[in-house]
Amino acid sequence: MKVIIAVDSVHGNTKQVAETLKDEIEKAGHEVVFINLRKEFRVPSEGDLLLVGSPTRVAKMTGKAKRFMKRLDVAAWTGRTVATFDTHMPLPDDPKEREKALKWVEPGAAGKLSALAAERGLKVHSPPLRCMVSDMKGPLAPGELEKAGEYARQIVASISR
Ligand SMILES: Cc1cc2nc3c(=O)[nH]c(=O)nc-3n(C[C@H](O)[C@H](O)[C@H](O)COP(=O)(O)O)c2cc1C
Repeated sequence: MKVIIAVDSVHGNTKQVAETLKDEIEKAGHEVVFINLRKEFRVPSEGDLLLVGSPTRVAKMTGKAKRFMKRLDVAAWTGRTVATFDTHMPLPDDPKEREKALKWVEPGAAGKLSALAAERGLKVHSPPLRCMVSDMKGPLAPGELEKAGEYARQIVASISR
């Protein structure tokens, strides 16, 4: 199976998640094409599975990630699975503060990218992968890369079936 991973990342956290996904998918014996949208903006039309990732910034995906999803050739990707992933800030412990912060964290970049993909008629895998950082610019919280690895193993198993 050929898997495309396209990721945007400002501070490197989402790229780290993307690299973990890549390593796990390759370990499972699949080919991965890795596109760092910050370095090269291209929209592939070939692949069996597409994973698109972005940091959550001001409650949304980055402009590059949004443009990638908007430009994806729907005809070429019909029937193939698209999944999304993101990184996001932690929610405060205090229930009132938490309630106020929710709109910045949920559905986040991944939720919005998935909604855009679904709106465009693409087949979207649910749920998306969401990884939390410990502080506003990172690093990733403990256990989040392990979660990403598990997500990669599950998604390739469900698609290769
Ligand atoms: C300018 C800025 C705005 C942010 N806005 C949000 C936000 O609205 N919601 C959220 O959950 N996290 C927010 N974050 C936290 C980022 O999602 C988090 O740091 C993420 O891991 C950054 O990903 P990157 O390292 O791949 O750029 C923000 C971070 C920065 C620096």
